[in-house]
Parts: sequence; C-alpha cells; structure tokens
Amino acid sequence: MSAEIKVKRLSSRKRSRDRRISNLTPVRKMTSASGRQCPDHTGQMELSSAMDQSMDAKFSEYCSDTEDLFGDYDSIVSDSSFLAKLDRVGHDIDHTTSSRCPVVMLAGNPDFTSLKSSTDNCPKQSCDDSMTESFLEGFTDDSFVDMPSSQLAFLQDPQTADRNCCTDEDKTSMPMRHPEKSVSTEDRNERHIAPKARKSVSDNLKRAMMANAATPSSVSRTAVQKEAVVTEEISVAMQAMESVSMVTTDLGPFFGLPTKVKELICNLKGIKDLYEWQKTCLNLDSVQQRRNLIYSLPTSGGKTLVAEILILKELLCRKRDALFILPYISLVQEKVRGLTSFALELDFMVEEYAGSKGRFPPVKRRGKRSLYIATIEKAHGLVNSLIEANRLDNVGLVVVDELHMLGDGSRGAIIEMTLAKVLYISKSTQIIGMSATLGNVQDIQTFLKAENYTNDFRPVELKEYVKLKDSIYEVDSKEEECFRFSRLLNFKYSTAMQKIDQDHIVALVTEVIPSQSCLVFCPTKKNCENVAGMICKYLKEDFIQHKQAEKAVLLGELRSSGNGSLCPVLKKTVPYGLAYHHSGLTSEERKLVEEAYSAGVLCLLTCTSTLAAGINLPARRVILRSPYVAADFLKRSQYKQMVGRAGRAGIDTHGESILILQDKDKVLVKKLVSAPMEICISNLMHSDGKGVLSLILSVIGLNITNSLEQIRDFMSGTLLSVQEKQVCLERSLWEVIQECVELLKEKGLVTVSTEPQDGTLQVTKLGRATYKGSVDLTYCDLLYRDLAKGLESLMLDSFLHLIYLVTPYDMVSQCKPDWMVYFRQFTMLSAVEQKMCAAVGVSESFVARKAAGQNVKKNVDQVVVSRLYLALVLLSLLKETDLWSVADRFQLSRGFIQTLLSSSSVFCSCVLHFTEELEEFWPFKALLTELNRRLTYCVQAELIPLMEVAGVMERRAKQLYNAGYTTLAHLANADPNVLAKTVENLFKKQANQIVASAKMLLNEKADALQEEMDDLLMMPLDLLSL
Ligand SMILES: Nc1ncnc2c1ncn2[C@@H]1O[C@H](COP(=O)(O)OP(=O)(O)OP(=O)(O)O)[C@@H](O)[C@H]1O
Ligand SMILES: [Mg+2]
Repeated sequence: MSAEIKVKRLSSRKRSRDRRISNLTPVRKMTSASGRQCPDHTGQMELSSAMDQSMDAKFSEYCSDTEDLFGDYDSIVSDSSFLAKLDRVGHDIDHTTSSRCPVVMLAGNPDFTSLKSSTDNCPKQSCDDSMTESFLEGFTDDSFVDMPSSQLAFLQDPQTADRNCCTDEDKTSMPMRHPEKSVSTEDRNERHIAPKARKSVSDNLKRAMMANAATPSSVSRTAVQKEAVVTEEISVAMQAMESVSMVTTDLGPFFGLPTKVKELICNLKGIKDLYEWQKTCLNLDSVQQRRNLIYSLPTSGGKTLVAEILILKELLCRKRDALFILPYISLVQEKVRGLTSFALELDFMVEEYAGSKGRFPPVKRRGKRSLYIATIEKAHGLVNSLIEANRLDNVGLVVVDELHMLGDGSRGAIIEMTLAKVLYISKSTQIIGMSATLGNVQDIQTFLKAENYTNDFRPVELKEYVKLKDSIYEVDSKEEECFRFSRLLNFKYSTAMQKIDQDHIVALVTEVIPSQSCLVFCPTKKNCENVAGMICKYLKEDFIQHKQAEKAVLLGELRSSGNGSLCPVLKKTVPYGLAYHHSGLTSEERKLVEEAYSAGVLCLLTCTSTLAAGINLPARRVILRSPYVAADFLKRSQYKQMVGRAGRAGIDTHGESILILQDKDKVLVKKLVSAPMEICISNLMHSDGKGVLSLILSVIGLNITNSLEQIRDFMSGTLLSVQEKQVCLERSLWEVIQECVELLKEKGLVTVSTEPQDGTLQVTKLGRATYKGSVDLTYCDLLYRDLAKGLESLMLDSFLHLIYLVTPYDMVSQCKPDWMVYFRQFTMLSAVEQKMCAAVGVSESFVARKAAGQNVKKNVDQVVVSRLYLALVLLSLLKETDLWSVADRFQLSRGFIQTLLSSSSVFCSCVLHFTEELEEFWPFKALLTELNRRLTYCVQAELIPLMEVAGVMERRAKQLYNAGYTTLAHLANADPNVLAKTVENLFKKQANQIVASAKMLLNEKADALQEEMDDLLMMPLDLLSL
C-alpha cells in the first residue's frame, strides 16, 4: 500500500509546473485576477447537434464546468504571499472537513452575502468523518451495523487521522437551531481544536516547502544518482503493477466479488438472487476475458444489474475507473442516488456528470477509484477531457445503457463519436452495451468489435391487446390477421358519457384502478391533462376515500413546490389518485408525482411517450390512447418502450397493454405490431453530415489525427464506416471526409500548418473555441458575430444584454412571442435596456405595432425578435426566482420555462468556454462566470450547497434549511432517522439517500483539496536540473 502511494506521488512529480497550476479548482481559475486562461480545465466538446433535440423531455446539454460552490471563499490566486496561500489551504481543508458552515465560504460574492455567518447554525459535530451508521439500519449482517468500512479506512488513514479528532459524542444528527444561545461542550471543543488542526496542516506545508526549497542548493552528484536509481525502480514497479492489474483479481465468490457485494445488493436493492440469464451472462467467456460485449433483452429483463456487477468488478478487482452512460438526466440522478450507498460501503467515488454537474477533466483521486455516471453529452465531454489530459487509459470500462440510441439522431451521433474515440485511443478499455433487441446487432458488433448475448427473458409475462370499438383482440404476430378476438368490453355508458368518452377509457381503467396501477399514454401534453380530468369526472366518490391522507400530503407538497401555487388540474385529479405527467410540469412536480405513483398513492398517470423512455415506472395495465405521438404515427421502438412498462416484477403475475385503435389505422397498426425488429443506423451523416464535421474537427483539435490519411484511419473505426454502403449513397466515406475537411477549412475552423515541410492539419482558434465550447457548427459564426457586436456596446446596466447573448439559438423556434406581453414587458424596461434592444434589432415601435395587430413590412430578423423575448423571460426569472408568476406573466408552461433556464445555463457555459479560447473576448470570462452561477442555481443563495446533493431540489432544500440543516456538512453528518422525523414528508429511504449523497460529496470535496495540497507540496522535477 505504501509502495503504491510512493509510486503515485513520485509519478505525479513528473508533471510540469503548468500542469500543477491547472490542478487548481475551476473557480480559482475563473476568479483569477489576471484573467488567465485555464488550458486544462476546459469544457470539452459535446456535439452541438444536441441542440437540435426536442425540448419536450430531453433538453440538450453541453459540457460545462461545474463550479466549485465552495471555491469562491478561497482567494489563493489573489493572495500575494505564498505562505499565506498555504495558510489558506489549511484553512480551507478545515472548513470542508469540519462542520463549520460552508456558507461563509460564499461570502466573497457580494450577491450571495445574505448568508448567515459561520457561527449561526453550526452543528455540534466537528468532523466530516463522523458518519452515522443508521443508513445501514435494517441490514441483517452484523458487520454492516458497524461504521461503514470506507469510513473506517478513512479514519485509519494516517493522512486524515489528524483531522479525525472528534469523539463518538461529537457525532450528532440534529443541527442546533440556535447554537449561539447554547454553546455545548462539543462546540467549545471544536472551536478549540479547529485552529490547532489548521496550524498543523499549514505548518506541515510550510515545513515541506522550506525543505523542498532548500534542496537544489544541496543537490550532490550522489543525490542525483540516487534519484535516478529510485526513478528506475519505480518505473519497474509501475510496469509490474500494470501487468498485475491487467489480470482480474478475484476478491471473492460472487462473480469475483466479495460476498459483501451480494449482501448489499440484497439489502439495498431487495434482490436476493440473480436471474438465470444474468448468471449465464456474467459467466460468459467474453466477460471473463474482458472482451467488448453487447447484450440485448426485452424491457424489464434486469439488464442494469449485470452492468452494475461488471462495474463493481472493474472498480474493486481491477482498480480502474468506470464510465456509465445513460440517456437522460433523470436516469443519471436516479443511478447516482442508487449507487452512492454502494460506493460508501465499498470505498469508491460516484461522480455525477449531468446538467451543469461534472468537472473536465475529472479530479484525480488519491487511491480511490471513480465511477462516472454521465449523460450522453457529458460522457463525450468527459472522454474528450481525458484524452486531452492523457488519462483515458485510467477508465477500464465504459458501459452504455440503451445502446440502440446510436440510431437516435444527433444524440446517436454523440454516442458513436465517444465510443469511436475510446476504441481508437484506449485499447485496454472494455466497452459493454445494453440494448433492447435489435435487428442489425451485427453492424454494432463489428463497430465495437464486440460479442453478443441475447435472451428473450422477461420476469413478468406481457400480453399485448388492441381495442377496436367495443372488442378487445390479443396481438399475435404469428397469426395472419395479427389479432385474435379476446373479449367484449363490459361497460354501461349513458348517452352523454358515450359522447365524451368515445374510446371507453373510463371502462378500461376502472378494470384495474385503484387497487392496481395504470398508465395511459396520450399523443399530446394537452390531451394528457384532458384525459386525466375526464376520467375523474366519471369516477365514483369511493376513489376519494382510497389513501386519502397520503393524497392530502402529496397535494401539500405539490403546493409547497410551487411556493403556494398548485396546478388546477392536479388539484382536481390527485384526490382521485390520478395525475398527468409531461414536460409542462416542473422537475419537482414530476418527481413528486413519480414518487407518489411508485408508492401506490397515485394509481393512474396520463403521460406522453417520454415517460416510457425515462425512469422505471411500471404498471399493471398500459393503455395507448392512440397510435400517434403528436401527429406522427408510432414507431415500433416507441411502441415497444411504452408497452414494455406493463407488468411489475415481483408484484404482478402478468402485465397487459391495450392499444386503442380506429378502423382507419388498422392496417398501419398491424404493421406496427408485427414489424421486424428495429435497426440501428449511424447518425454521423445526420443533418447534412454535421456529425462527421464535428468529429473531424475534434479529432484534429485533440491531436488524435493531423492528416487526411490519419482521419481516414480513424473514421474506418466508426459505425458509419461499417454501414458505409447503406448511409453514404452518393459518395464514398473517403470523399465525404475530404469534403468535410475542405468545408472546415472554408469555415476557418481548420487550417494547414505553415511550418516548412509540415503540412499537418490544425484547428484554428475559432475551431478550438467551437469544439471546446461544444458550439453547434451551424451557429459558431453567428455566435462569434453576436459576441463581437455585443462587445462594441455591451450594456451592463442590467443582466439583459448578457442573458440575450446566452439565450440558446435552438430554443427560439419553440416559442412564439405573445405580442401584448412582449409590448408590456418592453415598456417596463429601462431606457438603457430599450436602447440595447434597439441595437440588437428590436425597436419599441416594432413591438408596439405588432401588439396593435398591424402588419409590419420592415425587414426584421425573426430569430433576434424571438430570442430577445426569451431573454426577457429569463430576466424576469432571475429577478424574482418564482417560476409560477413568470409562467403566468408570459403565458408559458412552467416546465418550458424551467427547460429554458437549464438550457440557457448550459449554453452559457458553452459560450464561456468558447470565449475563453479567443483573446478578443476576454471581458466575457468574468461576466459569464457570474451569470452562469446565477442561471444554474436560480434560487436563494443559501440553498445552493444543499441543492448540490443528488435528489435535493429547491423545495426539499428549503425544508432542510429551515430545519437547521444549512450546510453540506450538516447533511453528511445527519442521522437519517432523525432527518426523516424532523423534515416533513421525508421518507426514511430518501433520508438515507440524502445523507449518503452528502457524505459522498463532502468526501469528494475533501479529496480534491487534499489533491491540491499534495500538488502544492510536490517538488518540481525540473528543479534538479536548474
Ligand atoms: N435478479 C433479479 N431479481 C429480482 N428483480 C430484479 C432482478 N434483476 C433486476 N431486477 C429488477 O427488475 C427491474 C427491471 O430491471 P432493469 O431496469 O434492469 O430492466 P432493463 O432490462 O434495463 O429494462 P429496460 O429495457 O426497460 O430498461 C428493476 O426494478 C430491477 O431492480
Ligand atoms: Mg434499462
């Protein structure tokens, strides 16, 4: 172990000075007084084409720096004395690792100063490691009742021993509301201890630095020789270690893992035994020998567990990092919550890469392995940053869930780019893909050089039906007619009811609810709300009695999530146990509805197709209101996803789906249910080859390739190359590549080196800014022009101008201005703001004439007009932070406004990275950093640290804050039992997850600081040669 530490330390000594500087946390760099660029901490390319995504459910993400929220208090870059910096580092560590409130750390920001002082709300405990054991309560194994092993290890770690000065009595779960009034012994102890600890850390640092500083003057020949011998020994040791780690080391009887993992799966997931197919799959030769693998099974087959076991093997046995790619933010968050307890027990890190979370490149962990759980776009950014830092080899395993999404538009293109880069750069990284059954899995196998495992196992039998008039037919694709008559629907409708519910939805749902659950998929959002309302109208009063108290609680929570506002439709439907679920709801509302449905408080959800691809919400019966999504006929994959929600494993003996169809759709539906399996086609040529263009730009930028031949070689490893004949109809792939390179040159993104006899391809500054900022190639010129024009007359009197510059171009088409609202808002702007609007091309007279209904002939850029309208929405939101009143004022759905806010914060970080690469845009760095912070956390500043914890949204953060849990340290040290009792409507399971996530986050921050401290202490290698 000590050898390992030694090796790591010495190896990191080889870093250059610049490299070490770049290990500072992002905020330090961003707040650098000199406005210095930060080459290492860059937002990596995430394909801009993600911007094209429908905002309905999956708003696009871009890579972005996650801001270290605790970084702002730190002024290391502005300190003049280096020893003072060291003092600060010691001080910082104390802050993070002691229970002193991190909120103080934000005090440097004038707009976040309404925070309480550090002495307010400080809890009794003083140590970040005083983890409570209670989240393990209920475990059968005695060994689990003890302190988590990870924490024991942490406590035993000599490096942390100093800081673990608290006694058992120091542990408390209940923060004091008025600590200043009752200073406990523990508090006094803590105050006494803290400065001491601080002194010792800084003293150590100073001593070590002094020793290092003294070294060069006394370097003798023998010392140099000794150093050379040691270096040689280390390199041999490292090679030996590497060859050992190539072989999987068995740690126990559970597929190479210790029995403890099996017990954790049982206790945390409730899974006692693996399905037969899961065992077979885990024992496959290809798995044992770490070959790439694709495994395909029907929905709900239990694919995830196999992937999770393989991930644990990689982390624990092979001691390499792993990357788990999931298609949606909600899925990433759910997985992070689910795996954090495993991580605490088994001593690895879980790092979230979704939305604005995730660092590029990730922090190097000391002795701990990391599991990165990422969305498609973030995973691409992460892989890019690891390539740039030459660290991709550290990732031993990449798992892709829903691999068939390779065929899904621009997001598919991003998965393909990510995997192609991993395949090309890191031969030792294993790739595993899970998928629903595919028609052309062979192509993907060839692309990934993978083996394939297929099984048609489904834990609960699925029966598919269609309903035509009053008859129900079972789907049997083997029969010629496809449908076999099953039964007549039993309903007694009045004439009035028959008129309103022509499709007999009420009759279909009342066969199962309220005792069993039902999902009704509707073609549009409005239809979801109407259908939910309509069903309630015909439900008996008995439904109201069912779980009445729980439903009242849910309504209360929904109301408090809206700061007192409650959706009128939900107000009417929830008492009956019904709700609608679509992107018009806020994410908090969606989460509350999902949780209530999972807990059986709600028995029916009307929803859009997006729910099918999102989180795991199974139902006894799934009804498809019609075979359409909006105006488009269902695709087979969509149909399969929706009906796949039927049947709850372990609860139902079977699940059933009923598709309501009209005579006119009969033929198409027959095709739909009997069509061959979906095939998956490369999307690099999607949107006029935007994928190929972006990929080529980034491989040149990342120095993976720098000649046409090398690009050709790289591209031969893509799915596009496998499917060349199918996809590149008019030109060969080689011709496409040549054209793309020419186009990139024309656009000024790529150039040929002017060095004599070089002739290599290089990215230009604009090209680098474009791929580093993940800016869509279609918009990069426009963005450059807008920013340049903005710089000429930047209006800083309010945020409006900056907001306008970061309003995403791709959201413009999703909202038509309401001219009356536009005019009213325009007139409320200050004179300077109006002047700025006129400067970008929207004058008051134009808006006034539009509001008056006049036809304006003047040539006005519609994109600019609509973009400014969205900027006004965002400005209102930043001013008031109340989603509901802004939604009301602009007559937009609150879900849309929330989506607009998150996309703008993501685009803001893209623009920030874009400007960082272009010197002429230097003023934007500081301005956009602050704007990004505001857009990312559009809440009161004191809630920000709590909202960093996975699963804590604004409403929960408020509750926690009001209950006295004001900092991350409060949450990390809380007793979940007490937390659940103190905070209204917080279930024990949720409390466990909150505490576990907070512990993880705190460890992560402490680790990052420790890493930084080590870097500071490292003697520069080139010192000897001076
Ligand atoms: N061996 C097992 N015993 C009991 N339940 C299991 C087992 N394996 C998985 N499950 C449960 O089955 C459910 C479905 O599993 P999972 O989400 O992995 O399905 P999936 O194959 O990924 O389906 P989909 O294609 O819909 O994503 C989960 O609730 C999971 O906890
Ligand atoms: Mg799955």
